[in-house]
Amino acid sequence: MSGRTPETDEPEAAYTAEPYVPVDADLQALRRAAADCHGCPLHRAANRTVFGEGDADARLVLVGEQPGDQEDRQGKPFVGPAGKLLDRALAEAGIDPAETYTTNAVKHFKFEQRGKRRIHKPPSLREMGACRPWLDAELSLIDPEVIVALGATAGKALLGSEFRVTKQRGMALPCPCLDGEERLVATIHPSAVLRADDREAVYEGLVADLRVAADLLGSA
Ligand code: URA
Ligand code: SF4
Repeated sequence: MSGRTPETDEPEAAYTAEPYVPVDADLQALRRAAADCHGCPLHRAANRTVFGEGDADARLVLVGEQPGDQEDRQGKPFVGPAGKLLDRALAEAGIDPAETYTTNAVKHFKFEQRGKRRIHKPPSLREMGACRPWLDAELSLIDPEVIVALGATAGKALLGSEFRVTKQRGMALPCPCLDGEERLVATIHPSAVLRADDREAVYEGLVADLRVAADLLGSA
């Protein structure tokens, strides 16, 4: 392919997962292919690609930012502290986590090494754009009725860089990812609850937003 250096098989200029995404693949084949994605430099420092997991026929897809330390070690999304909190919030909102599919806007963990600790770094717009073909492929196969964007990165990935979680959370928004229909609900990232001083209030806000998604599912 043009634009590649054969020595490293890395794209020279463009960051994109596109050449790695198989056509007409099912979710398992996508997951296998994503394991070898070199579409941007994030694969170098991380241990593995963390692809989406869950019910392939899910009516609800949850989109996070990127895997964290635990997810990078275990190879599954939302298995760390934020994921445990998310499961609790989903259940409280009347959504069975087992009936959802969970994924991330970016599929490798981006971090800064500080001593033994790996500190999360937000992905750049360029990295988000590079990884987008995986998310598009997942969404087009699962074809969910409702999508929940967890936090600003997921919101920007799905709705564009103008997205503001503080202004647009907790309502049914139109998304190109859902044929323009108002079936996307954005909320805060569950890790924002873990960082908050007034945890209880912030958690209740997350649950309230998830209830909007539950209501959409109920009325679909
Ligand atoms: N935070 C995310 O956005 N995604 C995960 O998978 C875990 C933590
Ligand atoms: Fe590929 Fe996405 Fe990983 Fe970049 S972050 S290497 S585009 S899977």
